[in-house]
Amino acid sequence: MNSKRVSLANGRSLYTIDEGVGDPIVLLHGYPLSSQMWSDVLPQLAKGNRVIAPDLCGFGRSMDDPIAFLSMKELADDIALLLDALGIVSSSENVSSSEKESPIHLVGLSMGGYVAFEFWARHGSRLRSLTLCDTRAGADTPEAAMNRLRIADHAVAIGSERSTEGMLSKLISAANGRNRPELLDQLTKMMYSTSPSTIAAAQRAMAGRRSFLQELANIEVPTLVVVGAEDAISPPSEMSEIADLIPNSSYVEIPGAGHMTPMEDPVAFVAALLGFVSKQCR
Ligand code: MLT
Repeated sequence: MNSKRVSLANGRSLYTIDEGVGDPIVLLHGYPLSSQMWSDVLPQLAKGNRVIAPDLCGFGRSMDDPIAFLSMKELADDIALLLDALGIVSSSENVSSSEKESPIHLVGLSMGGYVAFEFWARHGSRLRSLTLCDTRAGADTPEAAMNRLRIADHAVAIGSERSTEGMLSKLISAANGRNRPELLDQLTKMMYSTSPSTIAAAQRAMAGRRSFLQELANIEVPTLVVVGAEDAISPPSEMSEIADLIPNSSYVEIPGAGHMTPMEDPVAFVAALLGFVSKQCR
């Protein structure tokens, strides 16, 4: 895979996979993971598309940055700057209107979905389509936010392994948990190599994120909502409500998968995403 460190105009840099030629598909990973979570779907997606998969600030190989992000908004702004740095249509006034036309297909899983909502709100003119994968539109309940802040307060003292304790079993379906040790291994490696300071910053950022529930009806860009039928974190009941509220949306439920649909059933995920993206051609 072609990958490189890309310097952003705000002084940060993001380690980014940039593979293939064609319409840009940007993949935003979940917490506490990295772009490696896309490794089983990336080769197929990159046949006929340009696939851009960054490690968000502080995660994966972007981890030697000082952790300066405080919010989902900042992570969304990083993606806009990443697109600028990669030459994928500037949002500045100095480009012709044809160049400004909705250029990217944005895909966000879980925390990546929270970032995708902010990207829609802040940089919506750069979107050709949106894919919300195993994510949530609402803010945290006060209890959930308190729990995140408690984890954030202790992460540096107790380390990544203990800070993410209990999460692994919720990420994939019960059957995949029993039968797919390689998946557990991949996820554990990503989780445990995320630094405690990134875990703390991300938990604070997620605790403080805003709700998009009231804004779903305003999302005009074509949207695909994908969920694993056995997702215990963002269940189909919640994801189908998101799809019901977004006017121009379609909904796909992937049987047998939990929260990590692109890893648990890459073939079904790729079919759903490419089927959707191919309908959005100019
Ligand atoms: C994720 O997969 O990104 C997390 O489950 C997000 C969260 O903790 O809300």
